Amino acid sequence: MFSNKTVMITGGSSGIGLALGCALRQRNANVVIVSRSGTKLKSAVARIESNPGKGSVSSYRADVRSFLEVRQVVRAIEKSNPIDCLINSAGIVQPARFKDQNIVAFKRAMNANFLGTVNVCKAVSPFMLARKSGTIVNVGSLAGFIGVYGYTAYSASKFAVHGFTQALRAEMKPHGIHVILVAPPDTDTPMLERERSEMPPETAAINDSAGMLSAEEVANSIILAMKRKRKLVVPGFEGKFAYFASRFIPGVVDFVMDSKIASVRKRKSGT
Ligand SMILES: NC(=O)c1ccc[n+]([C@@H]2O[C@H](COP(=O)([O-])OP(=O)(O)OC[C@H]3O[C@@H](n4cnc5c(N)ncnc54)[C@H](OP(=O)(O)O)[C@@H]3O)[C@@H](O)[C@H]2O)c1
Repeated sequence: MFSNKTVMITGGSSGIGLALGCALRQRNANVVIVSRSGTKLKSAVARIESNPGKGSVSSYRADVRSFLEVRQVVRAIEKSNPIDCLINSAGIVQPARFKDQNIVAFKRAMNANFLGTVNVCKAVSPFMLARKSGTIVNVGSLAGFIGVYGYTAYSASKFAVHGFTQALRAEMKPHGIHVILVAPPDTDTPMLERERSEMPPETAAINDSAGMLSAEEVANSIILAMKRKRKLVVPGFEGKFAYFASRFIPGVVDFVMDSKIASVRKRKSGT
């Protein structure tokens, strides 16, 4: 399915995006990764190229928060390689309690996670619409289905990604473009490593209950979903369980999260 196809991956220099780049290279896709840091892009290209595969590997620098930058890069890619699949994996997280979170952090999360996804879809979709084919994958989060303690900014930005992706799916389907939403649980990436050091203990206790996956496991779930034309992927058993519980027994999910928060607070106060 991916042989000779061009896949553009935002956030392809690290974590889930990088694992996707490696896995798609092994399937002979032409892999194009896009993110901000030139140094990270360079080492990611070398890492992807170290996998066996016949496709090309290239990188472009762009900040997904800037529509102009993204449009320029998309036009440059399209000149040599029509984009068959777009994967929006670029994202940020800055966990903090709402009382400690400043307004700038909310703007940052919305700009990078939500508007960043919108910008890239807006730049790529006209080309896919003209060809009447393509696949768009937006990486949301389990925290885009369940509002989690410490994630007032992150959850809000991921709920926005989810709403946008569902509406986009309905609009793109009649034009032969398939849109997929991915909602991973905790995934072992540099993002998680960074946020672990700043995360309130209540957030860590809640996240632990949805399990942790490797970036490769998440990448493989996404690739399977692309092949099977799924519209939603929640990787991992615990993630799926948490998703279904949030849909069908939301009161129980709230009870479990509230209990975890209460036990962390009890431990902290030493009672
Ligand atoms: N790891 C988890 O536990 C987890 C769980 C659920 C969902 N997710 C979601 O999965 C996606 C990937 O996360 P990850 O864990 O793989 O994170 P990561 O290892 O930190 O990688 C994030 C990638 O996004 C790029 N990026 C960040 N801001 C950008 C911007 N403004 N413009 C362009 N590129 C940007 C980064 O490169 P530069 O900084 O060089 O730009 C990097 O390549 C994110 O959307 C995240 O919210 C992650």
